Amino acid sequence: MTPAKIVSTICRAILPPVLFKPVARLQRKCNKIHARKALTGATRLHLGCGNHVLNNWHNVDLEGPAEVIKWDLSKALPIASNSVELIFSEHFIEHIPKPRARKLLLSCHDALRPGGILRLSTPDLDALIAAYQQERLRDWADVEWLPATPCQMVNEGMRNWGHEFVYNKNELFELLRECGFTEIKSVEWRKSDHPDLDKLECRPFHQEIIVECHKTSR
Ligand SMILES: C[S@@+](CC[C@H](N)C(=O)[O-])C[C@H]1O[C@@H](n2cnc3c(N)ncnc32)[C@H](O)[C@@H]1O
Repeated sequence: MTPAKIVSTICRAILPPVLFKPVARLQRKCNKIHARKALTGATRLHLGCGNHVLNNWHNVDLEGPAEVIKWDLSKALPIASNSVELIFSEHFIEHIPKPRARKLLLSCHDALRPGGILRLSTPDLDALIAAYQQERLRDWADVEWLPATPCQMVNEGMRNWGHEFVYNKNELFELLRECGFTEIKSVEWRKSDHPDLDKLECRPFHQEIIVECHKTSR
């Protein structure tokens, strides 16, 4: 449970119902002020970082070590427009529903400077379906996911670990286009033409969709 959720649960337990809503509103306002302040001047954002904290980046997640900026990424980023150079996110976008992802990606596009780059990595639905069709149950054994049956594998892949929406390449590229990104292309695991986006993924490669795209320079 996140610290914000703990505070909210305690408030709900001890406050009379009439006070709960205004206190919760105040708490959300304070969180936003805190996150906005922490993100002031940020030029590289690492979204949904978990425990993988990158040096010289502003790392953002609902939870994680103290240096992580705590923010609910199903909401727009509290950051100035045209201020960020690079955004990186690994195995996170599938954790929020697609309409929320759209909102976040629109906000990423707004936050990026013209010419700025977004790099995303997310599990590939097509890879999951191929593993299902070929009954390959041990594809993710190295990360200790050993589904019992192909049917179990698809269901777990879609629903476990807090997954909300698993993309295939077409769906993700179309969403990125809708959010204004251009030069959308698949890139290799841990490889980028941009030196600061190189060698960033921390997870072993499992046929993820890994994409880089740009905010068009004016
Ligand atoms: C599978 S982990 C990935 C962590 C890290 N990027 C990695 O590859 O190891 C997904 C992360 O998304 C975060 N997360 C899920 N929903 C979130 C939300 N609404 N706002 C911010 N972070 C969220 C979780 O806290 C978790 O750290």
